Amino acid sequence: MKEKYYITTPIYYPSGNWHLGHCYTTVICDAIARFKRMDGFDVFFLTGTDEHGVKIEKRAAEHNTTPKAFVDGLVDNIKDLWKVLGISYDKFIRTTDDYHVEAVQKMFKRLYDQGDIYKAEYEGNYCTPCESFWTESQLVDGKCPDCGRPVEKAKEESYFFRLSKYQDKLIELYNKNPEFISPKSRMNEMINNFIKPGLQDLCVSRTSFKWGIPVTFDDKHVIYVWVDALTNYITALGYEGKDDSLFKKYWPANLHMVGKEIVRFHTIIWPAILMALGIEMPQKVYGHGWLLIGGDKMSKSKGNVVDPFVLSERYGVDAVRYFLLREVPFGSDGVYTNEALITRTNADLANDLGNLVSRTTAMITQYFGGVVPAHDAKEDIDDELIGLCKDALAKVRSHIDNLLVPEALVEIFRLVQRANKYIDETMPWVLAKDESKKARLGTVLYNLAETIRYSAVLLSPFMPTTAQKIFDSLQLGALPADFESIKEFGGLAVGGNVVKGNALFPRLDMKKELAELEKLAEAQAKAKEQPKQEVVEEQPKAEITIDDFAKVELATAKVLTCEKVAKSDKLLKLTLDVAGKERTVVSGIAQHYTPEYMVGKTVVIVKNLKPVKLRGILSEGMILCASNGKDVVFVTPEKEIESGSGVN
Ligand code: MSP
Repeated sequence: MKEKYYITTPIYYPSGNWHLGHCYTTVICDAIARFKRMDGFDVFFLTGTDEHGVKIEKRAAEHNTTPKAFVDGLVDNIKDLWKVLGISYDKFIRTTDDYHVEAVQKMFKRLYDQGDIYKAEYEGNYCTPCESFWTESQLVDGKCPDCGRPVEKAKEESYFFRLSKYQDKLIELYNKNPEFISPKSRMNEMINNFIKPGLQDLCVSRTSFKWGIPVTFDDKHVIYVWVDALTNYITALGYEGKDDSLFKKYWPANLHMVGKEIVRFHTIIWPAILMALGIEMPQKVYGHGWLLIGGDKMSKSKGNVVDPFVLSERYGVDAVRYFLLREVPFGSDGVYTNEALITRTNADLANDLGNLVSRTTAMITQYFGGVVPAHDAKEDIDDELIGLCKDALAKVRSHIDNLLVPEALVEIFRLVQRANKYIDETMPWVLAKDESKKARLGTVLYNLAETIRYSAVLLSPFMPTTAQKIFDSLQLGALPADFESIKEFGGLAVGGNVVKGNALFPRLDMKKELAELEKLAEAQAKAKEQPKQEVVEEQPKAEITIDDFAKVELATAKVLTCEKVAKSDKLLKLTLDVAGKERTVVSGIAQHYTPEYMVGKTVVIVKNLKPVKLRGILSEGMILCASNGKDVVFVTPEKEIESGSGVN
């Protein structure tokens, strides 16, 4: 029977503003999950979304919609992102899923009944963006130690979790499992900053907002979002649900991969909750570093395009995956710049890998009519390359086991670089001039093709699209599901065909690309400013005269066509007929009307509004809507009337 391997990403806040940094944790987990599957493990890879809390409640209100409707659109968007990036998760959990809500409620009640949760009044320093209470000693310069923003004094009647009770048990856990918190530096950070100053009981309910999981026995309270969120790792497996077979099979988690800023929640609060529930500990929490963009965790952009959709479309998903997996020394911070992405893509992917594949397939085509030659004219010089291939899997495996992801890639690219050097050393074009060297030429080209096959199999967990393209060049069909095929050097069938495909990674012109990316970044920054116009804000307005009003030209218009604006959950693009003339209007009503519903309707527009570009589309006018702050309905004439009729 296969050994199980349960790996999790944190569940994401549905922000909608995804940048490359967000993809980091998930791409790394995906590469590890894929590697483990190929290496014979029964893998369960979990990801999802963390959808409750005051931030979501506020943002939904700003968008005149309900929190659930608001998060639904964003969740679709993150699923699209994971699809583009080829994330092979086995389950996607949403904290708004019924089974999760019920299980969290049961768990909370259980902890209350057994005395691990109690009710009391709490006064503390609350950081709204982080949804965290902090003690005086934890504040840094009077501000939130996580995000550096100001905190507010807050007082609430709350339920508390007896975290302090678990202080000694946590120390015991760390001592018994020195790798429970990795890398080691994060373990020291947790002990010195949080455990040593003494753990205080944790406030685990809120009454100041509604968007959370209600406490079943006291419905003024909703459960603290971190308790709700952390529990996803077991509710996703059916814990406290109708069928807990996955829980029995996969728990404890082998690896919780998290960003360094949330290690505290995963290594103090989460194990303490599990201890209280009598559940086994996860084996490891790994706190990775950040991808810094413009010197900051969250980007101010600084001319860098950080939209993973845009970058994947422009350079291919594997250029993005490779950058994320290779560039950041694992455990530390790394820096994203457009230059770094282009340099990596050109140097490693276009020059080293792409060239090796195209040179080898071109030579087999030229000298052997595209047929893989025999390899019986071996020479000593071949040994190093063959030896590297034979040892590669064990080395890559050891790096993955030690969570040294960039090192695993370095190991694979060692094969690629050695193979390129082997071409220079053996000079097949010289061998080709001498008919008596034909067998030797065949052996050299075979060794190269076989090294390429090894590289593709090893690369497949990290860059699945590219690995498949290489397999296509070697006419080998689908990528293998395991590593069996690279146990013996010589597995590539003699007599098989190869084809010279398109370049795997076309060489990028640095200057041209930087200029293009700069333009894209500017366009994105502008587009980000636009949505503010979609928010209906109520402000007392100054009185106007009839002459002021007369400046506004209102008219009826008939909707001819209507579609959603790509990558926006709020905007619809409408083509309108206004007295026989067509015009385009972009309107922020997508969360209230479907495109199909709008076609054929008569609306009222501000006809002489200065045109403005929204998401790159020129919007010539505005559709009038009535709104009570929650619902939005468009205004329409009481009876049929020609389009273009004046409204005054
Ligand atoms: N919802 C919480 C996690 C709850 S888990 C029970 C959360 N969500 S998040 O959306 O803010 O972050 C999700 C992951 O993205 C975290 O691991 C976080 O560290 C990671 N990243 C977000 N920006 C990042 C970078 N710039 N660089 C690397 N990873 C970062 O935290």
